Amino acid sequence: MPEAEKQRQAFQFYGRRKGRPLRKGRQSLFDELLPRITVPLNAGVAVDPASLFEPTKRAIWLEIGFGGGEHLAHQAASNPDVGYIGCEVFESGIASGLSHIDERSLENVRIHPEDARTLLAALPPQCLERIFLLFPDPWPKRRHAQRRFVNPGNLDRLADLLREDGELRIFSDDPTYIEWTLQHVPVHPAFQWLAEAPGDWQERPADAVETRYEKKAREAGRVPHFFRFRRR
Ligand SMILES: C[S@@+](CC[C@H](N)C(=O)[O-])C[C@H]1O[C@@H](n2cnc3c(N)ncnc32)[C@H](O)[C@@H]1O
Repeated sequence: MPEAEKQRQAFQFYGRRKGRPLRKGRQSLFDELLPRITVPLNAGVAVDPASLFEPTKRAIWLEIGFGGGEHLAHQAASNPDVGYIGCEVFESGIASGLSHIDERSLENVRIHPEDARTLLAALPPQCLERIFLLFPDPWPKRRHAQRRFVNPGNLDRLADLLREDGELRIFSDDPTYIEWTLQHVPVHPAFQWLAEAPGDWQERPADAVETRYEKKAREAGRVPHFFRFRRR
């Protein structure tokens, strides 16, 4: 079996990959812009993220499951000295992210249009300064708990990839996932919860923007929580 297929099977993905067909403009971004900014990934070959950006960037940040790409575009535009890698599997989300990148002429974004775990497996240790996991799919049913992105195996990998003093941000509005996150991350030896007062998890960090999912959560009466963890 080819290596790429083996890896795909090892990281079984349970979410949605495709929705409605893309509109014409978005399809052309998919066909033309995406191949130019996709992280080149060959199964079994390490990726040096610094080499993806020209001119050289002072740090690399990674967003896992960027959804419509609002936060990705905001962070990349506000931090032109950072190389920003966004991972997303859902086709309409990728297309929306591409339209933000195109409209704002962002030169410092690269996209991994696949399961983030295949990229995490190819990156070298301590190459990232920040990792964003904003409103990950909650998989609230107990029998689906092993599908949650926050799990001991992924946390070990994220800990390997973050440099010392780097930051992992996890936002969630789902009570089960909030509890799950607090049960798993602060007890991990590599992570320290950066919270001193309730405002630290009740208010979105000042440098972040509301995502589409956060807006929907608030409209539905759910309460977003914002967790920041420092890599020890
Ligand atoms: C609930 S949505 C939140 C989207 C966005 N972060 C926001 O706040 O609007 C979760 C997103 O994560 C993506 N996702 C889930 N698992 C993923 C994975 N393993 N790799 C990349 N993206 C993933 C899904 O496709 C979905 O778009």
